[in-house]
Amino acid sequence: MLKGKDVLNTAQFSLQELNLIMNTAANFEKRVKSGEIIRNMEGQVVASLFFEPSTRTRLSFETAINRLGARVITVANAASSSASKGETLTDTIRTVDGYVDVIVMRHPMKGSAQIAADNAKHPFINAGDGSGQHPTQALLDIFTIRKEKGALGGQIVTFVGDLKYGRTVHSLSYFMTLYGNKMFFISPKSLRMPSEITADLRSRGAEIEETEDLKKALSVSDIVYVTRIQKERFKDLAEYEKVKGSYIINRAIINQAKKGITILHPLPRVDEISTDVDNYEGAAYFRQAHNGVYIRMALLALVTGRT
Ligand code: NCD
Repeated sequence: MLKGKDVLNTAQFSLQELNLIMNTAANFEKRVKSGEIIRNMEGQVVASLFFEPSTRTRLSFETAINRLGARVITVANAASSSASKGETLTDTIRTVDGYVDVIVMRHPMKGSAQIAADNAKHPFINAGDGSGQHPTQALLDIFTIRKEKGALGGQIVTFVGDLKYGRTVHSLSYFMTLYGNKMFFISPKSLRMPSEITADLRSRGAEIEETEDLKKALSVSDIVYVTRIQKERFKDLAEYEKVKGSYIINRAIINQAKKGITILHPLPRVDEISTDVDNYEGAAYFRQAHNGVYIRMALLALVTGRT
């Protein structure tokens, strides 16, 4: 179903494909945890091109590649590649496409993923394109919701933080719509979800409420998805200073939220979740990060037809 395909955004997926990805991920998780040496992608080479900082996404992709028995070539920072000499993205991709079987790329420019995919014959996976999309994060987010809640769909989810520049919420909100999850969007006024995204989600049947009342939203939410203010995307740092620390989730706030609320965060966090929340049993953000390996194993195996 996904062999030879690119992964660019979350609007591209059907429920059937999402089920396949999550079931494949669950199967890889079982195999890895049983200690099996997995060789599905033996003989293949994957390019991991990160032109923007990353800890979890790059390392979990590279762990996934290693666990599948494939090999990886890496650009871990833009300064070390010919991008710093002025090479175009198109030329870099055409070159790397001749070396490998799959390309994974993160790039600071929104829309760069589409350009790269258009110039690659091999499957291309978007690992974050500026303030655009981050589909593999959203896949591990829904995989985490399914595991934490035992089900996915018909839930109430509050998104809080930087909804303007936060690509993870841009991606995940499409899946929430597909699964019939109601959404609260909470952010400083200057960082609201782009209106073209809310309009598109609503045209797909989304139930969305934009509010500044965090307490009220959390009192009815099954899940809260917290995000970092994306400092690196602000043209004017004075604007960042105005909004930083706007919403902070601490233990007192969680104590007043709906019982059993699950807390997700794509990480890294700065100060938007206090560490006094970490030992709350619904604080799932580190489990969420671990799930990234299995989702990325599933995607790599599916797009190369090596499941
Ligand atoms: C996110 C990203 O890069 O968009 N991190 C991640 O991939 N886990 C979120 C962020 O940087 O705030």
